[in-house]
Amino acid sequence: MSIERLRTNARDFTEGARRPLSTRGFNSNAGQAARTPVRSPKEIGEFYDRNSRVLTEVFAGSMHYGYWTGPDDDTGFAAASERLTAIMIEKLRVGPDDTVLDLGCGTGKPAVQLARATGARVVGVSVSAEEVELASALARSEGVADLVRFEFADATDLPFAPGSFDAVLALESVVHIPDRINVLQQIARVLRPGGRLALTDSITGRGAEGDEEAELAMAEVLDAWRHAPQVRAGNYPRFLREAGLVADEITDIAENVKYTYGKLYAAMDEYVRKHGDLPPDLARIFDLGDGVDWAEQEKEPQRDGIVIIAAHRSDTSR
Ligand SMILES: C[S@@+](CC[C@H](N)C(=O)[O-])C[C@H]1O[C@@H](n2cnc3c(N)ncnc32)[C@H](O)[C@@H]1O
Repeated sequence: MSIERLRTNARDFTEGARRPLSTRGFNSNAGQAARTPVRSPKEIGEFYDRNSRVLTEVFAGSMHYGYWTGPDDDTGFAAASERLTAIMIEKLRVGPDDTVLDLGCGTGKPAVQLARATGARVVGVSVSAEEVELASALARSEGVADLVRFEFADATDLPFAPGSFDAVLALESVVHIPDRINVLQQIARVLRPGGRLALTDSITGRGAEGDEEAELAMAEVLDAWRHAPQVRAGNYPRFLREAGLVADEITDIAENVKYTYGKLYAAMDEYVRKHGDLPPDLARIFDLGDGVDWAEQEKEPQRDGIVIIAAHRSDTSR
């Protein structure tokens, strides 16, 4: 993100009610924590109820970043997004005998891709009733409703028995949950011993601490997306350990996903041209990035980004 431009845009927004977060399951980025309001799962679900249809359109089918190999990779947004899903699916190492939980399933495309690629059964959960409906319709129209189903459920209080799943996929959903250890404990509980987890999370950690304006600007962006404060990739070994999981991989992919911002803003611009306007929540996001030269940003070292986490529940734990 362009901190210079974002900080200018953030000044245009009045500050809402802010209350400090607990630092448990979080990181030392106290500036962001103090400035980012805590949103309940209900509020987050309502955000997605209002916006998932349009978000799915502007994100080219799913609701997550794309993955590119470098500046010469001219893969389109939809294919790059499917590529990130495929990378994550591979880490689950599941097959037709397995059942996978897709935690924060969005409008269903990753779950459908997972069932198609592996033959595994998939249960997708979301705190948005609208998403559950859209995802269920997608599974039917894609002919995989026998393998894939969706339910309304909160990742911080999962309604499943211990050891119910062979694997858990969480694509950009823990970004909404302030206490990462809590959600990882929920995941560990529903995984069978030896079961695998693959997730992506939003990270920071490239030296803006103490830069008040930069932190305020990023807090505005996070709030506009209803995200919890970002974490540091380096916190994950502790988060996983405290949740009873064993880390297999922690990979910073900021340099691979950074092309997403420009593509997303171009898609939102296109949406406005086609439909006249964006829904208010997304117009706020669009305005925050207004005027950013994304091509220039791609050339700069990335301060924020995405981390891939792969882990498993040990055979002996709990
Ligand atoms: C950025 S979207 C990603 C959707 C999907 N994984 C994808 O990649 O297309 C975040 C998702 O997390 C879900 N989510 C957020 N908080 C949640 C919670 N506490 N429990 C379950 N789902 C949640 C949202 O409803 C949304 O589906």
